Amino acid sequence: MDQNHHEIPTRNVLQPHVLIFPIPFQGPVNCALKLAELLCLSGIHVTFLNTDHIHRPLLRHSHVLSRFNRYPNFKFETIPDGLEDENPVTGDRFEEVMAAIDAVTKPLFREMMISGSLSRRSEHPVTMMIPDEVYSFAVEVAVETSIPLFFFATLSPCCLWTSHFNLAALIEAGHVPVKVENDLDELVKDVPGMEHILRKRDLAAFCRINDISDPEIQRTLKEAQTLPRAQGLILNTFDDLDSLVLPYIRKLCPNIYTIGPLHALHKAQLTPSESSETTLSNSVWKEDRTCLSWLDKHPPKTVVYISIGSLSTMSVDQMLEIWHGLVNSRKPFLWVRRPGSITGGYDESQVESQLLEVTKEMGCIVDWAPQEDVLAHCAVGGFLTHSGWNSTMESIVQGVPMICWPFYVDQQPNSRFVGEVWKLGIDMKDTCDRLIVEKAVRDIMDGKRDIFAQVTSSWANLAKESISDRGSSSISLARLIDDIRLMSSTI
Ligand code: UDX
Repeated sequence: MDQNHHEIPTRNVLQPHVLIFPIPFQGPVNCALKLAELLCLSGIHVTFLNTDHIHRPLLRHSHVLSRFNRYPNFKFETIPDGLEDENPVTGDRFEEVMAAIDAVTKPLFREMMISGSLSRRSEHPVTMMIPDEVYSFAVEVAVETSIPLFFFATLSPCCLWTSHFNLAALIEAGHVPVKVENDLDELVKDVPGMEHILRKRDLAAFCRINDISDPEIQRTLKEAQTLPRAQGLILNTFDDLDSLVLPYIRKLCPNIYTIGPLHALHKAQLTPSESSETTLSNSVWKEDRTCLSWLDKHPPKTVVYISIGSLSTMSVDQMLEIWHGLVNSRKPFLWVRRPGSITGGYDESQVESQLLEVTKEMGCIVDWAPQEDVLAHCAVGGFLTHSGWNSTMESIVQGVPMICWPFYVDQQPNSRFVGEVWKLGIDMKDTCDRLIVEKAVRDIMDGKRDIFAQVTSSWANLAKESISDRGSSSISLARLIDDIRLMSSTI
């Protein structure tokens, strides 16, 4: 037989091209951009898909366009989400955002991937999808297109384990819905590994509902079923930190990439001049960097930093309790009061004049701070936080002890782990009283300062080890990059 007449089947090897698709909120977009830049540095092509609603403020307040311009292998794409708001919305509208995404974004996304600009029919097809773990619908698209998919969970593994993967069992056992009038301190013994740790009050806030038809509960149940269907799960943690829950999660999702603390791993991979650039920020509010010069005037470890992140809100009464507690502790404080974060707003006539006077001497209040730089500043000795997962990781890396005042989603389990498992601070969840705030501040800044200093510095060291050349998170990132290349070549 004439060999020359045989057509050798040539396989069209596609260039690795990752689609990163975060949910439209500050924390997840921030993480996703860091992951995107790490992949760009490895030479992989990345398309970053933002919904319109978050893309506008991101471009307005950060330098992402100029920063990512240096990567010819990166591009932004946007997709409508049906939200008209000019500014990022508060967390109480989370389900509204998810419903809008379901109605508007989901069908457009499917079309984009099946026949549109990112599909196999396009000039530069996507070979791997990395959507936020909340986007369960992406799995169906992955099946339809045969494109591999890794979910990216930007919330904490302790929440994923306790309140996602175990949610169905908790409902079955009657622990959820959690009734606030019942004994919130009762231990929840049905979550493996958590028998002596987890109380009802430490379950994710969405467990405190009236009945399980609640959309957030239904969405979370679906997420828990969908996550194991992906080929991989990317987590912003490091192996030592979550050694309690990772073995359980691995039983359900064997292919896990632990690449945290992501912000620190990201910084470590940039050149020294790139990592010190102020343009590294992915903020969707304008950062007020004057607070760094205010911090410069204070001795080491004397200032308390207060922030409730990008989505949470507090009432005027809660703000006043915290304010009094801080002032009574006599510690200088830097407080982020994000526009819209005080429900209903307030004016100075609602605040005692003495409080305003003392604040002029010992306080600094800003709309939005460069948080990573603030936590890295030597003047900061404590962090009163809402226990968002990014804030928690950023505080761990800098060895700053925390006072946790959680609002919702993963913040309830996070604060329990900070207080009880990692011993990195004080969990004051479900209270907001000036005496409690004052005592907590005095404890972390004075009374128990040395005990916290020891624990926080040993966790900070473990975090730094994990991102060193041979650290677990660096190895995990290298494996992620290898796997993206490998899987891209086999589709
Ligand atoms: C939300 C959820 O509330 C959180 O529990 C979940 O883990 C992720 O999504 P968010 O309110 O955005 O998080 O809090 P967090 O995860 O802590 O992220 C806030 C981010 O904004 C951090 O990266 C922090 O550095 C940054 N930030 C915050 C600033 O840059 N400046 C500020 O003034 C405040």
